[in-house]
Amino acid sequence: MFKETFQRYLTMIEQTLAQLPWDEDSLNESMYYSLIGGGKRIRPVLALASAEAVGGNPETVLQAALAIELIHTYSLIHDDLPAMDNDDYRRGRLSNHKVFGEAQAILAGDALLTYAFEILANLELGQPERELRVIREVALAAGKDGMVGGQVADIAGEGKALSLNEIEEIHKAKTGAILTVSARLGGILAGGTEEQIEALTDYAQALGLAFQIKDDILDIVGDSETLGKPAGSDIRQGKSTYVSLLGLEGAGHQLHAQILKAQAAIKPLGERASFLNELAFYIEERKH
Ligand code: IPE
Ligand code: IPE
Ligand code: MG
Ligand code: MG
Ligand code: MG
Repeated sequence: MFKETFQRYLTMIEQTLAQLPWDEDSLNESMYYSLIGGGKRIRPVLALASAEAVGGNPETVLQAALAIELIHTYSLIHDDLPAMDNDDYRRGRLSNHKVFGEAQAILAGDALLTYAFEILANLELGQPERELRVIREVALAAGKDGMVGGQVADIAGEGKALSLNEIEEIHKAKTGAILTVSARLGGILAGGTEEQIEALTDYAQALGLAFQIKDDILDIVGDSETLGKPAGSDIRQGKSTYVSLLGLEGAGHQLHAQILKAQAAIKPLGERASFLNELAFYIEERKH
C-alpha cells in the first residue's frame, strides 16, 4: 500500500510540474533542467500525505506542494555553487552551474524562488485565510530564520568543530524548516484542526532532523552514482556533521531515535496517517 500511494502522489506531482507554463528561453530551460532531474519529491509527497492524514483531499494542496519543490530545487542549485558546497553533480546529472554557468544558475534559483510565491499567491481554494497563512509560513521557513539562515550557519561552520547542539540547530534550519512547512501546509490547506497540525509539525520536525542525519550518513557510506551527487562532499568542505562528531554508529542511533519520535507524534492521527508512519521508515532506510 505504501508503494502504491507513493506512486500515486509522484504521478500527481510529476504531471503537474511538467504542465506548468514553461517558456522556451534559456532561463526557463535552466529552471526546468534542475527541477526535472531525479528528485525524490519527498517534500511535495509529505504535503499531499499530510492533507490525507487530516482527512483532506491531496488535490487541494498540489499547487502549494509544487511551490515547495521549486523552493527546494532553488536551494539545491545555490547549494552546489562554487561559493557554497562546490559540487558538480546533482540529481544524477551535472549541476546547474556546470551546464548554464554560475550567473544563470544563481538567477535560475532566484526565479524558482520567486515563481514559487507566484504559485502560492495564485491559490484559489476559496480559503483566503488558510492561503495567506501558508504563504507567510513558507516565507518564514525558506528565509533568514529558516533554510537560508541554516545555510549561512552551515557555511560559517566549515572548518570548525561544532557541538552536537550547534549541528542540530543547523540541520533543523537548513533542512527541517522546509520539511516541516511542507507537512503543515498540507494540514492547513486541507482544513485540519490545530491539534492535527501540531501533530504533523512534531512529526515533520523529527523527520526533518532524521532526513539530514541520513543525508550526512549517505555522504559517507553512499556512492556518487546511487546518490546522484558527489559522495564525500562534507569532508571535502570541512563540515561538522552527525557522522563527523558521533561516528556512523552514533549517527545511526540518533537517526533511529528521530524516526521513532516522528512516528510517535502522529499516533493521534490514527489509521489515516499510516503512510506517514511508513514514510519515516523509508527515510531511515533510503539509499539515496
Ligand atoms: C537534498 O535533499 C538536500 C537536503 C536537504 C539534504 P533531497 O535528498 O530531498 O534531494 P532530492 O530532492 O531528492 O534531489
Ligand atoms: C543542504 O544540505 C541543505 C539545503 C538547504 C540545500 P547539504 O549540502 O548536505 O545537501 P546535499 O548533500 O548537497 O544535497
Ligand atoms: Mg550544503
Ligand atoms: Mg551540498
Ligand atoms: Mg549533504
